[in-house]
Amino acid sequence: MATNRTFTMIKPDAVENGHMGKIIDMIIQAGFDIKAMKYTRLSEDKAKEFYAVHAERPFYGELVEYMSSGPIVAAILEKENAVEDFRKLIGATDPAEAAEGTIRAKYAENKGRNAVHGSDSDENAEIEGKFHFAANEIF
Ligand code: RTP
Ligand code: MG
Repeated sequence: MATNRTFTMIKPDAVENGHMGKIIDMIIQAGFDIKAMKYTRLSEDKAKEFYAVHAERPFYGELVEYMSSGPIVAAILEKENAVEDFRKLIGATDPAEAAEGTIRAKYAENKGRNAVHGSDSDENAEIEGKFHFAANEIF
């Protein structure tokens, strides 16, 4: 069932700034099980495809350039109420608005370079997980 899974990426700014280990630890400490994980890099075309829903937004070009600028960690996470609980753990899109103690409040640089991605629905969690992982890479 997709209802207890979500998909995340530790974005290039957080990897570059050395926050990868601390973020993975926060995720595990918050009770998420890692069902799949890889260190990888999105090509420009893959970043365009992943964020196609934002194609008409003014920040799309910048977003695609940023998300393909360096390595990321992609992961599928499992926990009861995963999508909602993970969005709580990461905090608001803009770290200036993110609640204290959230991943973005601690590690994001700004609204664009905001350290982590979290799926916004069960349906998108499944689509995004399949975008990054083959069936034999999910445990
Ligand atoms: P995400 O999809 O990465 O988890 O982030 P989100 O739901 O909190 O935010 P969303 O609206 O889906 O935007 C996707 C990503 O685009 C970048 N962004 N930049 N400069 C800006 O105004 C702006 N707005 C959004 C961020 O990297 C955001 O996470
Ligand atoms: Mg989003």
